[in-house]
Amino acid sequence: MTILVTGGAGYIGSHTCVELQQKGYDVVIADNFFNSSLDVPERIAKITGKKPKVYQLDVADEHALELVFSANCIDAVIHFAGLKAVGESCHIPLHYYRNNLDSTLTLLETMERHNCKQLVFSSSATVYGPANESPYTEDMPTSATNPYGWTKVMIEQILRDYCTADSGFSAVLLRYFNPIGAHESGLLGDDPNGIPNNLMPFVARVAAGQLPELTVFGNDYPTRDGTCLRDYIHVVDLAKGHLSALSYAASHTGAEAFNLGTGEGVSVLELINTFERVNEVSVPHRIGERREGDLADVYADPSRARNELHWVAEKTVEDMCRDSWHFIQTRMAEQ
Ligand code: WQD
Repeated sequence: MTILVTGGAGYIGSHTCVELQQKGYDVVIADNFFNSSLDVPERIAKITGKKPKVYQLDVADEHALELVFSANCIDAVIHFAGLKAVGESCHIPLHYYRNNLDSTLTLLETMERHNCKQLVFSSSATVYGPANESPYTEDMPTSATNPYGWTKVMIEQILRDYCTADSGFSAVLLRYFNPIGAHESGLLGDDPNGIPNNLMPFVARVAAGQLPELTVFGNDYPTRDGTCLRDYIHVVDLAKGHLSALSYAASHTGAEAFNLGTGEGVSVLELINTFERVNEVSVPHRIGERREGDLADVYADPSRARNELHWVAEKTVEDMCRDSWHFIQTRMAEQ
């Protein structure tokens, strides 16, 4: 089977391409490399012994995408491509709506022309918004507090409506919690351009001496140590969840959402302390003000994915911290 992976050179996309190729799928990557390195396909090849076919394009470019579908017999699509920075989306909302919605609509129109009826969509726990409480379940109403989150809510709705119109279409909506960690080889990992927004890449760069200090955004939340709880999930577990979703899409129709999380909340200080302990490093940090929009606790009820996708996260927070540290050390050794 041939799988088109949009955004396949990105953090989660590249780890998913590794799992796909190791399971015998043929992989075609469509990526504009806006938020990924051009050498990622070679790194995927180093790990798996096979280089995916790569098209450098904007998924919203209908002519470019048509060429991909005309040149390859695409059986299913995993759609990662999209802008994903919460804070940035508040400053340039039109760019986020245009980019994330146009690329999805162009993809669906192209899939329709080529009778491709299986899609796995990269959604997010952010669709649970502020109104629901952890542990989140897939039947809860969705909303958002930022344009990025709204694009995920809207795309889920587009896919539900499309599945209503085409009863033969299958859309699996994967709601990620907090993906962290890296491939055990150290060749792939979370390597954002500039100053990281997210916790783990920031922790790793402070530990590596690339950044002076981590600010913990508040320790006055109603949690066991006052810092926010999040459901951190190893990116390789997350990648494997996409293969389970592909299998589900091949034997079901309609739009179905699944939480990909561990079901456990880990605090910011617990993550820092685990990182220091397993890697025997120091992460200088200070307690600062709360970050606007942060919720006290965000973690999944992952039982639907366990029961229907037959998928469970297996790696520990220690694994996530160890692999993240190995990745940044590998990157530093390469420079
Ligand atoms: C985790 C915790 C921060 C940085 C985001 C997006 C979400 C999803 C995953 C796309 C929070 C604290 C962080 C720092 C800190 N992305 N923190 N100091 O906000 O849970 O989720 O990424 O779908 O949509 O919102 O992840 O890693 O930014 O923060 O104290 O320098 O770490 O306050 O409690 P978040 P995060």
